[in-house]
Amino acid sequence: MASDLSRESILRGLTTAIIGRNILYHPTVPSTMDVAREAAVGGAPEGTVVVAEEQTSGRGRLGRSWTNPPGVLAVSVILHPRMSRLLRLGMVASLATSRCVDSATGLKSVIKWPNDVLLRGKKISGILMESALRGQSVEWAIVGIGLNIDLDPGMFPEIADTATSITAELGREVSQLAILQDLLREMDRLYLALREDEDIHEQWRERLETLGRTVEVAVGDHVEVGYAESVDSNGSLLLRRSDGTLIPIVAGDVTLRKR
Ligand code: BTN
Repeated sequence: MASDLSRESILRGLTTAIIGRNILYHPTVPSTMDVAREAAVGGAPEGTVVVAEEQTSGRGRLGRSWTNPPGVLAVSVILHPRMSRLLRLGMVASLATSRCVDSATGLKSVIKWPNDVLLRGKKISGILMESALRGQSVEWAIVGIGLNIDLDPGMFPEIADTATSITAELGREVSQLAILQDLLREMDRLYLALREDEDIHEQWRERLETLGRTVEVAVGDHVEVGYAESVDSNGSLLLRRSDGTLIPIVAGDVTLRKR
């Protein structure tokens, strides 16, 4: 399907309060994070959304690269949250994306801690966050979402066994525009709820497939092994080690423990 994305088409009929107030659309960019950062530093308003249909140097978590041929929707949103809410932006993004994937496919996606969205065991979306702080306040935060819409993972050996996409699951093409607008609407709803201190944490936790399992978590250059007992209100994973101690993990990479 030919692309139906443009600044005008994205704005048409978008009735969000904050997210999407300002749209910066590019067919292709090195990384929407860099475009958004430049816009944020230049004073772009909260709710500015950078959208690209292709990235040539897409960035992933933990210094990895993100495979982003055409058909993988790249979205970076500039937000100005209070410091106390900064760490919950990942919950807003992954929950919104997971709900959007469910609406598009009729299937039930889950979240792998911290914020990967998985469909039938394979990754369909990844989330990256960057922020600039000044003293105790957040100057800006950027939430980056990569969503595999029209991608044949088999064409990319590095993700062939681990990734899926909306078209791969449905067996037919879909409108990128409809999915993007739905994603922006879901994010807007959840961001407004976060600003009212509503309990989005519980809704995020219910979708987490990681809890209740024995896992290995790569944290920096070492691996923690334990039982994924819960998550705290800021999204840290609470891991019960075999010696009984409970440790919070802020960032890491989870794999299920092999027996
Ligand atoms: C991950 O799973 O490691 C996170 C992937 C994040 C990818 C998105 S796509 C939009 C934004 N621009 C980037 O360069 N990265 C994020």
